Amino acid sequence: MRTPVRPASGKLIAPSILSADFARLGEEIHAIEKGGAGLVHVDVMDGHFVPNLTLGPPIVESIRKTTALPLDCHLMIENPDRWVDAFADAGADLISVHQEAAVHLHRTLTHIRARGVLAGVVLNPATPVATLSDVLGEADYVLLMSVNPGFGGQKFIPGVLSKVRELRRRLEEGRLTARIEVDGGIGTSNIKSLADAGADWFVAGSAVYGGGDPAGSARALASLVSAP
Ligand code: DX5
Ligand code: ZN
Repeated sequence: MRTPVRPASGKLIAPSILSADFARLGEEIHAIEKGGAGLVHVDVMDGHFVPNLTLGPPIVESIRKTTALPLDCHLMIENPDRWVDAFADAGADLISVHQEAAVHLHRTLTHIRARGVLAGVVLNPATPVATLSDVLGEADYVLLMSVNPGFGGQKFIPGVLSKVRELRRRLEEGRLTARIEVDGGIGTSNIKSLADAGADWFVAGSAVYGGGDPAGSARALASLVSAP
């Protein structure tokens, strides 16, 4: 079995390929490698949990062949348990499931870890951090949504900043090492405040791929959160 790729330490940019040109996906991913991206964020939508459809395991399998960066698969799907093995087999290194979609969240996170993949749990903007108190020890990372999931290019919801601070406090109190990822509407104007609040990984779709220079845009975001 393939050994999953682990993310580097420190603050990492996770460009979302949702805003990339899918006809040139290999080149688009090579551009963010040059821009110092730490993860490739892959948005999986099923048309049920969210009102949009994107991609599935065959595309992940193709991406796997084109990059050595860790593949961070964000499953915005109903019944995520059914799909964990398919994404792990396709080459996912990290798999996150929504708290709102996973009925047996503890089991799902345990299963993801048993596959050797890092296990993440995602919260929609309306879901409180406190709902994770009994599973924080089973998660390698928590993804806090800063938009309602389903589409790229939406406006950042600032309430996520206090959620990041609360989650950081809970992790410290519990001496837990889960990383904090944030996703949605992130760009040069707000990435620093998210880092200061305690976030580790920053998903950015339109801010990386929307301006015609994904390498430069990824680098610019990274420079705002890298240690002095
Ligand atoms: C939203 C996705 C995000 C999104 C980010 O459902 O989970 O990853 O593509 O895109 P931007 O950065 O454009 O908000
Ligand atoms: Zn995402």
